[in-house]
Amino acid sequence: MIKIAASLLSADFAVLKNEITSVEQGGADWLHLDVMDGHFVPNITFGPLIVEAIKKVSRLPLDVHLMITDPLKYAPEFAKAGADYITIHTEVIGDLAAAVEQIKKLNVKVGLSVNPETPLDKALPVIGDIDLFLVMSVHPGFGGQKFMPQVLEKVRELKKQKAEGRTAAVISIDGGINPETSSLAREAGAEVLVAGAAIFKHQDRAAQIKAIRGI
Ligand code: DX5
Ligand code: ZN
Repeated sequence: MIKIAASLLSADFAVLKNEITSVEQGGADWLHLDVMDGHFVPNITFGPLIVEAIKKVSRLPLDVHLMITDPLKYAPEFAKAGADYITIHTEVIGDLAAAVEQIKKLNVKVGLSVNPETPLDKALPVIGDIDLFLVMSVHPGFGGQKFMPQVLEKVRELKKQKAEGRTAAVISIDGGINPETSSLAREAGAEVLVAGAAIFKHQDRAAQIKAIRGI
């Protein structure tokens, strides 16, 4: 079953509660929260305070995507704020196995993410220990970018690893997902489709979510 994670990066933050309600009623399965530090990516968004506020107005699982240079330092605060999933980037971690263990101790589900140009190699030894794998299909930092189909190779490889029993991690894809590109992602094996602009830049959220889900 395909899940749709609505990425709030493209929502109207002046009326965030209404935006969240609209995607909840429109059938979104998760809320995807992009945390950026202006260092790992050239943009700054929000921190645990906003995650905590969102937790109070939504029952959907919070999929917190940390695009920050020091995720291990801040992960406890995001767990406390109500994150259900905490995803960190392999590019900023030395000892991945230790990092995964550290995040698991926070009683949240743990995700690993790779930028479009980052191979899976470094992450493969720990895929048996994680709950989610987030393949970036744009360069992280901004919503509304064009989907990079070359990353689908990584999604196919992860699907293969799953079929061979090496991991139970949910395969997620993030960036440039819309009703057209979602079919490519689904065919390759993505199970959670993160979408921002394709949902929030349209009036009819339910129709967009349905079209992205492909049913
Ligand atoms: C990009 C973020 C994405 C972003 C996706 O750095 O990680 O979650 O919100 O936005 P769209 O769907 O607009 O490409
Ligand atoms: Zn994201």
